[in-house]
Amino acid sequence: MTSLFDEMRIGTLTARNRIVRSATAESLATPAGCLTPELLGLYGQLAWGGVGIIITGYMYVTHDGKPSEGALGLYDDAFLHHYRCLTDLAHENGACIVAQLVYGGSKSKLADDDTRRLAPADDPVEDGVSNTSILGASAIAHPRTGLVPTEASTEDLHALAQAFGQAALRARACGFDGVEVHVAHGYLLSQFLSRRFNVREDEYGQTLEGRARLPLECVRAVRAAVGLEWPVLVKLNACDDWDDPAGTRGGLGEDESAQVAAWLVAAGANCVDVSGDWHAASKDAPAGEPYFAGFGAWLARELDVPIIVTGGWRDPRTIESHLASDGIAGVGMSRPLICEPDLPRRWKSGDVAPSPCTGCGICQKQIGVPCALRE
Ligand SMILES: Cc1cc2nc3c(=O)[nH]c(=O)nc-3n(C[C@H](O)[C@H](O)[C@H](O)COP(=O)(O)O)c2cc1C
Repeated sequence: MTSLFDEMRIGTLTARNRIVRSATAESLATPAGCLTPELLGLYGQLAWGGVGIIITGYMYVTHDGKPSEGALGLYDDAFLHHYRCLTDLAHENGACIVAQLVYGGSKSKLADDDTRRLAPADDPVEDGVSNTSILGASAIAHPRTGLVPTEASTEDLHALAQAFGQAALRARACGFDGVEVHVAHGYLLSQFLSRRFNVREDEYGQTLEGRARLPLECVRAVRAAVGLEWPVLVKLNACDDWDDPAGTRGGLGEDESAQVAAWLVAAGANCVDVSGDWHAASKDAPAGEPYFAGFGAWLARELDVPIIVTGGWRDPRTIESHLASDGIAGVGMSRPLICEPDLPRRWKSGDVAPSPCTGCGICQKQIGVPCALRE
């Protein structure tokens, strides 16, 4: 029977337990995307706190793919040795560390004077009229940001896949134990999968196969860059709407997502990290825990790679019971580890009280991931 504190293997990586700090953007990097002492402090606490794998906050793979202020960068060779102090810090404290790779797209949070804007922020928004140079599947306005991206050309998409590969190579050179390609939460790669954002009429749209083409090319480029076995995780939405798992309102349904997961594995991913919706930590998330366990168990039956299920875990007894019954390899947690970076250490010591995190959302609204319960 698998237990929370058993080791977990993903390709060449062996983690000390089954607890994964899921990617959490702390918004503390410099404007160019570099590390700061505050970030090193947070990652040091997490590594000391006993987590098995730390997945970094999203790291942008091209300059124009920056998803928000304070995000970490991996977009050129200037980063080749930049993260060595971070990966050393994790390893010295017994944790593995994986770099999450992203291209933000129209979900990105832009300052009013961001040079990627092609029109003032308060101009009217219209589908088909791009108001930003950020790449998108189609020039469709994002309902939350009002950004209308520029439809990516085939050449843009080939270059983007190569950028993911190059970023993965840099991550490996920096001592990371793997990368996670971000195909979730409404950023560019997950937008490609969605009928709502992808109405392209070329080979990158139309059918599920077409809509999956870009994420698959990115994973193939990453795998080709890093070689066999090195851990390449993908974070994938179970579906795009909490109350519409069939995806009938135009997003991505669970059947489709399961098919995409199988293709991503065939393209070279050796772990799937299950998440969902436009923002898995949103206050709209369904009550109770853990909201993607059913889909994760399904993937674990269907696919021959470790499955991590992220979102909503708070109680170690619940985690133990899902690890024992669902065939999943591990669980991803974000907010509980913001609240208590040493939660795994506490649970291991025998204090198995659940995380007190209430999902209040303070950590998402302010830079530096403050916690209402921690100060
Ligand atoms: C402050 C904050 C930042 C986040 N940043 C990222 C991110 O960079 N990449 C990502 O894939 N998910 C990000 N997430 C989502 C988490 O990884 C996770 O999927 C979600 O919070 C649900 O897990 P939880 O219930 O354990 O918090 C973030 C969540 C929070 C609260």
